[in-house]
Amino acid sequence: MYSKILQFPKDFAWGTATASYQIEGGVKEGGRVPSIWDTFSHTPHKIEDGKTGDVAVDHFHRFPEDIALMKQLGLKHYRLSLAWPRIIVDEKGTIEPRGLAFYDHLIDALLEAGITPYVTLYHWDLPQYLQDIGGWENRKTVDAFLRYAEVAVQHFSDRVENWMTFNEPWVASFCGNLNGAHAPGKKDVPVALQVAHHMLLAHGKVVRIIKDIAPKAKVGIVQNLAWVEPATQKDEDILAAVRWDGAYNRWFTDPVFNGSYPEDMVSYFGNHMPVMQESDVEAMAAPIDFLGVNYYTRRLVAYDSQDQFIEAKQTYRAYVPRAEFEEFEVWPEGLYKVLTSVKEKYGDIPIYISENGTTLKDVVSADGCVHDPSRVAYLHDHFSAVHQAIAEGCDIRGYFVWSLLDNYEWGFGFSKRFGIVYVDYEDDLRRIPKDSAYFLAGVARTNTVKVQSL
Ligand code: FCB
Repeated sequence: MYSKILQFPKDFAWGTATASYQIEGGVKEGGRVPSIWDTFSHTPHKIEDGKTGDVAVDHFHRFPEDIALMKQLGLKHYRLSLAWPRIIVDEKGTIEPRGLAFYDHLIDALLEAGITPYVTLYHWDLPQYLQDIGGWENRKTVDAFLRYAEVAVQHFSDRVENWMTFNEPWVASFCGNLNGAHAPGKKDVPVALQVAHHMLLAHGKVVRIIKDIAPKAKVGIVQNLAWVEPATQKDEDILAAVRWDGAYNRWFTDPVFNGSYPEDMVSYFGNHMPVMQESDVEAMAAPIDFLGVNYYTRRLVAYDSQDQFIEAKQTYRAYVPRAEFEEFEVWPEGLYKVLTSVKEKYGDIPIYISENGTTLKDVVSADGCVHDPSRVAYLHDHFSAVHQAIAEGCDIRGYFVWSLLDNYEWGFGFSKRFGIVYVDYEDDLRRIPKDSAYFLAGVARTNTVKVQSL
């Protein structure tokens, strides 16, 4: 047995990530208006355990305690999102000062604790009043987003330097409008593509707005990229994998970096293509300072004549371990491959791992602790994969584990635990750092990962 120490670059940002609807609760407080997730989670049969984010993990009230925890663990970087429906409360663009004040308190408390905030503008909680006029299908929502972003950036950019425009536009557009698993729950290919187009357009336009307001700001977008491989070497499976990569990866990265949709997919989608204006492509490709990569899985893809979207399906190998979230393989090598392929395709863009983590059936042990050795191993192996990408010249700036806390996992409600801090849903939402929290704390403190091999 030998051990090796992997040293990460100086100033590497170690931290955790969360999203407003998943942790805040307080949905009727501080003048917040409903979002599409309030509507969706209150609709019967949409959420696995029937629960809503009304209280979530009550971060709205307990943020001082959560920040103290981060401080105690020595985690000096934190990715959070702003809830648009707390800040702009109607279609006319009325600003809610109590919403701004809530985030003032939160951001000031982070800074006071020595924690750098990375703020995502859109992590899926679209105000319901906009969904009532068609949501992201309607180009007016792009303008409403720009107005909200302008207000937020003007207000917070004296304290926030790092901005992330959208979180995972593919999940927001396709899970929300193609398979109906997320809000607003539609199932329509052209609608999903139109929604995606408006999000990418809003992203590009907002980059320019942020730069105008705060020239020193660093602005990026968060994409969830999977490593895609064909299930077999049969032509039909190889082509299905190319389509999968085209629809879920390249569809969202090509416009941002190249100012165009991938041609193979444009001809595949044919008359499902979104309505767009000539200037949109240029707008979508506004130069960004970094890319946020959310990585959870490899996708092993086979041809599927029954699939109405891209005639492709995900398959699995019995010997590859899967997360409790069954569609996710535990495949750290895919993270390395995603990172090196971004560099190959789009050049030397700085990258943050903006999310990575896993879900387990965590329990509080008799000793009062939460032991999650599989999550520790998962993180260890993914950190090592990132180190390998860095060693090969990728410019990786930081790593945000998903998530700080167990929280409301969208369509799964509270049935999935992704946190490095356990939340006791039976006991007043008590927080208990899991072993993985202490593991991350050690990695952050030393800026190294220890690898052992036989
Ligand atoms: C990502 C989301 C995040 C969380 C994780 C598990 O797709 O961005 O909010 O739900 O998955």
